[in-house]
Formats: sequence, C-alpha cells, structure tokens
Amino acid sequence: MSEPSAVQTPQAFSPRIFSGIQPSGGLTLGNYLGALKRFAEKQDEGTQTIYCLVDMHAITVWQDPAKLRQQTREGAAAFIASGVDPARSILFNQSQVSAHAELAWIFNCVARLGWMNRMTQFKDKAGKNAEAASLGLYAYPALMAADIMAYHATHVPVGEDQKQHLELTRDIAIKFNHDYGVEFFPIVEPMIEGAATRVMSLRDGTKKMSKSDPSDQSRINLTDDADAIATKIRKAKTDAEPLPDTLDGLKDRPEARNLVNIYAALAGMSAAEVIVENAGSLFGTFKPKLAELAVSVMAPITTEMNRLMQDPAEIDRILGAGADRAEAIARPILDQVYDITGMIRSRR
Ligand code: TYM
Repeated sequence: MSEPSAVQTPQAFSPRIFSGIQPSGGLTLGNYLGALKRFAEKQDEGTQTIYCLVDMHAITVWQDPAKLRQQTREGAAAFIASGVDPARSILFNQSQVSAHAELAWIFNCVARLGWMNRMTQFKDKAGKNAEAASLGLYAYPALMAADIMAYHATHVPVGEDQKQHLELTRDIAIKFNHDYGVEFFPIVEPMIEGAATRVMSLRDGTKKMSKSDPSDQSRINLTDDADAIATKIRKAKTDAEPLPDTLDGLKDRPEARNLVNIYAALAGMSAAEVIVENAGSLFGTFKPKLAELAVSVMAPITTEMNRLMQDPAEIDRILGAGADRAEAIARPILDQVYDITGMIRSRR
C-alpha cells in the first residue's frame, strides 16, 4: 500500500488545455467568440485540448431531461461546427466520466465556505432567494475545479466571466498541495484573450450577452438564420454619434464599444484596427457591414450544426469515444488523489 510520500508528484506539468460549456440552453455569439472559436484555435496550435459539455453543471438549476439531452448534442455539434475536431481534441460530456464527480467531492472538503460565499456568479444566479438555490449551485465552482484538475490541465481558455472561478481553482489546488504536502496539482493559468472576452447584450451594453436573458433580441444564437442575425444587429441599441478615431473615444459608449469588439473578433482584428478602418462612420453604415460579416462567419457554422444534428447517434458515438479517452487520463490521476488522501483502494 503506497503512503502519500510514495506518490509520484510531477514537479513540472506538460501543457494541457481544458475547457467546458454548459448545455443549459442555446449557445450564443458570446459563447462562440469568447470560447468555441478560441477552442478551435488552441487545438490548431498543437497543445493537447480537452473539451467538455458540462451536463452535471447544467443541472445545478433544473433542466428538462429531454431538452438537456438535445442541448448536449447541439453543444457537441457547435464545438465540431466551430472547428473542434474530435480526432484531434478530446470532446465528451462530463457525466460519462465519473472522475469529475469523485474529485469534486474531495474538493468540496478542501474549499472553504468563505471562498464560496465570495463567488459573484452564485450571487447572480441564486438571485434574491439564495435559500432556495440548490446546494449544487453553491458547490458549482468546486466541480469546475475538479473538471480541470482531473486532467492536470495547465491552461483554461474562457471568457471574462469565468475568471473568479479559475482563481478559486488555483486556491483549491494550492490548498490541496499544501494540506497534503505534495506538488500534485498544477496551478492553472486562465487564458482570457482576444477582442471578445466579454460580448455584451445587443439591448444593453452594460449587461453580458447571455442565453438566459429573457429578450431574444439581446443575443445572437448559434441557431439564428441569416435574416435573424441581420435584423438583430440592425436593431441593436447604439447612439447617434459616428465612430471615433481612437479607442478612447468609445470609453463611455458601451453599446458602440460592444459592436466594435464583435466586429474585431469576427474579422480577426484588434478593436483599435477596426476603429482606424471605420473612424467617422455612422451606425447606418457600420451596422450593415457588421451584419454582413456576422452572417458570413456564422451561417456556415449554423448550417454545419444543423447537418450534424441530423445524426444524433453519431454525436453520441463521438461523445462516448471522447469520454473513453478522457477517462484514460483522469482515472490514474484520481487513483493518486485517493492514495494521497488516505483512502484504501484494495479492489484494484
Ligand atoms: P458557460 O457555459 O456559461 O459559457 C461557456 C464559455 O463561454 C464564455 N462566454 C462568453 N464569453 C464572452 N462573452 C460572453 N457574453 C460569454 N458568455 C459566455 C464563458 O466565459 C465560457 O468560457 N462554468 C463554465 C463552464 C465550465 C468550465 C469548466 C469552463 C464548467 N467547468 C472548466 C472552463 C473549465 C460556464 O458556466 O460557462
């Protein structure tokens, strides 16, 4: 029986990327620009990439079972249509790899209530009636830490809204390593990069674009057709001023800034370059240009998603094969965690 001191504790971790998306509703342009598009880029840069539809996170608020299944498949289709290749990346749904839930329990015993109480996303999601929120919603960030640490992932591409959760992941890893006197878990690096780390609502430039916003006009869904995309952009809230000639000129214009950011991310430019190219333009000119760009980028993705959704059995097969590969990485790591924490494992 190995004692904690006998456990192999790698000092250096080879780079490995992990990220996840909740299948808790239709995906938006925010998910695409802040996450999916970058997931495909990371894969193409050659680091090992592991991507997950976090269905167990989704049920921290109630989900209709049939819809959850549909949304998980649609999420998988969105990954693939955005350029994530299930042969080169590992793509799976969380509940098929039980290491996530198992490690989450251990992390529940590492994380402190005081840390959880500071999570702004819990406060936002629980709303005024926090007493009625599920225990799972409260413990959500410990499961997220487990998602990442079950693979010894070192880098996590996400949008800005996940920053605090990744800081908590680091805190959990540091405390686990410290409490057990090991260098077992890597201290993860968030990758919050690019022009669209926080895509805002089309109706209110101070609110995040979100699948849970009651107004469908506030977001572009990955399932929207070309007409819907163009109409939503045309109707997006803006001001009457022309675009300025420096980024500074957008400081107090959140809606204008948002459209410039979206344009930049879709075109693969920086926001500053978009400003240089469009200085002096009125929204009557800029919006149709943005709509045309958005349709040209998004329409092929929507078409490919629809094609993939014709064959749900094939999507399930891809998720199952991905889960097998994920399990092969996570299980030995979890076995070591059990050794470190002093659990007897005599059935192996
Ligand atoms: P979720 O499902 O809310 O969002 C998935 C990804 O999309 C990004 N995103 C955005 N980026 C820019 N602008 C927006 N308006 C926007 N809306 C969403 C999110 O930042 C995220 O990267 N807790 C996570 C899921 C998760 C996870 C993980 C992520 C579970 N385990 C482990 C990374 C690693 C979440 O709810 O994301």
